[in-house]
Parts: sequence; structure tokens; C-alpha cells
Amino acid sequence: MDKKFRKTVIAGNWKMNQLASGVPAFMETLTADLTVGKGEEAVLCVPFPLIPAMKAAAAGTPVKVGAQDVSAHDKGAYTGEVSADMLADLGVDFCIIGHSERRAYHAESDELVNEKLKVLLAKGITPIVCVGESLEQRDAGETLRIVSTQVQAAFQGVSAEEARGIVVAYEPIWAIGTGRTATSEQAQEVCSFIREYLAEKVYDWDTSKAISILYGGSMNGKNCAELLAQMDIDGGLIGGASLKPAEFASMIKAGSEDA
Ligand code: 13P
Repeated sequence: MDKKFRKTVIAGNWKMNQLASGVPAFMETLTADLTVGKGEEAVLCVPFPLIPAMKAAAAGTPVKVGAQDVSAHDKGAYTGEVSADMLADLGVDFCIIGHSERRAYHAESDELVNEKLKVLLAKGITPIVCVGESLEQRDAGETLRIVSTQVQAAFQGVSAEEARGIVVAYEPIWAIGTGRTATSEQAQEVCSFIREYLAEKVYDWDTSKAISILYGGSMNGKNCAELLAQMDIDGGLIGGASLKPAEFASMIKAGSEDA
């Protein structure tokens, strides 16, 4: 089975929620009886100021820490920005880039996402690259064109060897925070399209088979097992449900069964 070639990644995206002071209690509940599979990564992507508290609370647990964005610049006069070097220095292992909220509210282009991907690779941080279409684009039959353009641009100039360490997250915008999950068939269709696109248009099947492709959008403790059972869905990028430690633990457990 193809899934043995890649990791299952269950990643929480806390977005702009929670406080550093709440992290120890959250982690105590999350890790009380946590099962993380051998081929699985459990990750929490938290706001920048919460990273030290999360690193401290995750020490000695299987939970890895991620950020939600990074500057494309190395260093210098970029007020408010955070560099990949700073994230690496804090021991961050993963970083979300190109989330639809950043594309929409901060005008992030495909080219910028590609630059961010490269600064992360240079520092040994695993990028979680988000792609996905809006409802208007889906209704207009443009889903696959939009997603392939985003994937193509994100991986521009990245070698096959580097690509194997990258995680892609398919997050249809209409499913984010709406309670309207893509059906497992809809999610599988696009995730399998991304894998085929990476195999045939960008790299090759060996490389593509090693890339974890996640689904994100109203994924929760109830619907995750069915989504994870799909052939090309290798995990989830989870917003709201990752703020609830018991529910997030159950999703990590579901991932361990799939890993
Ligand atoms: P929700 O799980 O809250 O829909 O958010 C998904 C998301 O955007 C994760 O990055």
C-alpha cells in the first residue's frame, strides 16, 4: 500500500487563539493518554509568542511544534516579521505557509509562498504548503486548475530530493471554519489529483509517493477516520478541533491507526 511510503501528519492550526499561559494545562490533557503511531507526526502550529511555552510543554512528549507563517527574508529591516532562522533557533520543526487566510488577508502570492518554502527548507523546517479553491472557483469547475497552479508555483525550483520532505495541505476555502466538510470523495479526488500532478508534471511517482498530502477544512473527531481512510489523504490540518485537547488527541489516535 502506497501509504507506507510517507508519514501521516496530524497537525493542529491554532490560528490566533489561546494564550501562552494556557499551554501547560492544554498539553497535560492532550498528552495524558496519547497514542502517536510509528509513521505518524503529531504537530501543533501555534502563534509566534506561544512557541517557547509550547516547546517547553511538548518536551519529552511525541508532539512537535510548528509555526503558522515565516518571513521570506533572511534578516534585517522588516518590522513585525519572523525569520526561518528565528524559528529554527526555537526548535520549530514545521511551518504552515500559504494558508488561505494569509493569501486573502495579507495578499500573499504564489511567488511569495515559493520564497517562504525555500527559506524553510534552508533551515531544515518542514513546510506545510496550503492550497485550495474558493466556492466560486469550485462552482465554476476551476478547482483542479487553481490547485495545480498553486502546487506548481510552490514547488518551483525545488529538487525532487527536497520535495520529499514537504507536506501539502489541501484546504478548500469553503470548508474552512464553516462546519461544511468536503465529502471524503471530494477531498480524495483533489488529493489524488495533486499526487498525480506532482508525479507526472513536476517530479516522478517515487517522489510524489513520498509526499504527505493532508486535508483541512472542518475536520473533527467524528469525520476524521473516514477522511484518513482515503488512499491519498495522509493526515489533516485541523483548526477549530485542535483547540480541544481531548478531541485532538482522538484525531491523533485515528491517525496512528492509519499510519
Ligand atoms: P477548521 O478546521 O477550523 O475548519 O480550519 C481549517 C484550517 O484552516 C486549518 O488550517
